[in-house]
Amino acid sequence: MSQPENKLRGKFITFEGIDGAGKSSHIAAAAAFVRDQGRTVVATREPGGTPLGEKLRELLLHEAMHLETEALLMFAARREHLAQVIEPALERGDWVICDRFSDATYAYQSGGRGLDREKFAQLEQWVHGHLQPDLTLLFDLPSAVAGLRITAQARDRDRFEQERVDFHERVRLAYLERAAAAPHRFAVVDADQAAELVQKWVEHTILTNCL
Ligand code: TYD
Repeated sequence: MSQPENKLRGKFITFEGIDGAGKSSHIAAAAAFVRDQGRTVVATREPGGTPLGEKLRELLLHEAMHLETEALLMFAARREHLAQVIEPALERGDWVICDRFSDATYAYQSGGRGLDREKFAQLEQWVHGHLQPDLTLLFDLPSAVAGLRITAQARDRDRFEQERVDFHERVRLAYLERAAAAPHRFAVVDADQAAELVQKWVEHTILTNCL
């Protein structure tokens, strides 16, 4: 199926990167920037974004489980998120800014955990074969630098943040592979630089690609 022919359809922008890349702080600023351009924005996240999805997030981040269960729950939460939040918002003409989406499953569950990416291609086709992000902003930085940022934060670390540097380096490489395979959709920024510079880049990239 091709992308729905709704001329008023809003834009779907996703933010991706390894833990500690700093994307979360940029998402609120990006949403404010798009609102300043006169658009209605739904800012949401994965796993999560719905009452059921947030319950699944709690399990995914803190409960030990089989690797394939983890991957399937990511897609289950996504199915709900698409049905309840993302698709209705885009159909209304709202913009959706989402903290992670299916690229994260390729990066973490395939790159990081080592699961077969072909399985994810099938699940992706099933769950959102008709819909891909219009733009994906990838925050890239060495996993050792990201690791230092995470350890500097005084809070409990979730199951993914507790993984070793080599896990995060595999996640990073999988993200970069995804970006190289879909250059029309991805924009990659060096996240190892001043936050103001990264924010300027985010705004410029959204302006030139979506507005
Ligand atoms: P994250 O955006 O890092 O949340 P926070 O900023 O609150 O720490 O997302 C939570 C974790 O979920 C992150 O470590 C990556 C992981 N994740 C996957 O492993 N696969 C997925 O498909 C998604 C969406 C997230």
